[in-house]
Amino acid sequence: MFCPLKILATARALPPRVLTNADLEAMVDTSDSWIRDRTGIRERRIAADGVATSDLAAEALLAACTAAGIAPGELDAIIVGTSTPDTLFPSTACWLQHRLGLRGPAAFDVSAGCSGFLYGLEIAAGLLRGNARRIAVVGAEVMSRVVNWQDRSTCVLFGDGAGAAILGPGDGSSGVLGSAWGADGNLARVLYQPAGGSRAPATLATVAALAHTVHMEGNTVFKHAVTAMSEAATQALARAEIRPDQVDLLIPHQANTRIMEAARARTGIPADRLFSIVERYGNMSAATIPVALDEAREQGRIKDGDIVAMTAFGTGFTWAASVLRW
Ligand code: UT7
Repeated sequence: MFCPLKILATARALPPRVLTNADLEAMVDTSDSWIRDRTGIRERRIAADGVATSDLAAEALLAACTAAGIAPGELDAIIVGTSTPDTLFPSTACWLQHRLGLRGPAAFDVSAGCSGFLYGLEIAAGLLRGNARRIAVVGAEVMSRVVNWQDRSTCVLFGDGAGAAILGPGDGSSGVLGSAWGADGNLARVLYQPAGGSRAPATLATVAALAHTVHMEGNTVFKHAVTAMSEAATQALARAEIRPDQVDLLIPHQANTRIMEAARARTGIPADRLFSIVERYGNMSAATIPVALDEAREQGRIKDGDIVAMTAFGTGFTWAASVLRW
């Protein structure tokens, strides 16, 4: 069902420090060519010591509010998709308010891994059907804090960053034409952070075992990501009654060039519509789609009336896709 809304503005916040594949060659047994061939990644951004997820989220949110011409206090709700919250509680969205000295807007996190931004968009679309008039959806991560820097199979993949979008009801010409979302919690252990929560609280032993870092069966994630991202996109397109060749821009979750390309091909969206930033930022989990959206807008790749498809997959497993008329 068509849900009228307008993305009034987008913005991004990326830490200035660049970690290249050459830098990683000096840290673990890897090579620039392996990383580029298997993932498409050349470099990623790493947050400075002391910079938390809410700091990047606040920077992106402020810039997005400025671009939308509103004050953060005018928002009805702030939704932050993240897997790397500042603390287990309160939410990163509340820490963001703390950082900005903001009081009033409802604030909460969405824990859906790399699907967090699209989950947030789906929730925001529902809220805009009610009384809400201005909602911020943010994807923000400091993945470098949960990466095991001794594990070459994961540490080369991730990066830090944040992206924000300000949503309003619009004039009826733009909105969500179709969407799909889902999850399969049976596969939770294929990609997870084993310790630090109520199941395995932090102890000297869990810290010594590096159990607070990303544990991932990369191959399994790869296969499920391709299937779920393409199926979600296909379902969202069918609900939108949009053919794959009518899509002007496809922004998939940016984990790996091969995953994005395979998901695109299965969905049938022409190759020239795929928008990729993974080469420069790596996998920023929930932040990849809003950062890519912002760069695509800046480059003039999205104009009013365009059909924009987004699809994501992440820990959980979770998946989500959304087809918008811009
Ligand atoms: O956003 C969702 C989160 N995660 C993802 O999306 C990640 C999904 N998975 C992937 O992107 C891929 O599975 C990886 C990029 C992680 C791995 O690529 P792969 O083609 O699945 O490689 P593999 O795991 O099958 O490993 C192939 C070989 C292995 O060596 P052997 O056993 O063949 O001798 C690995 O030990 O590559 C080795 N390897 C590496 N070699 C150099 C693994 N990591 C590295 C590395 N540098 N960084």
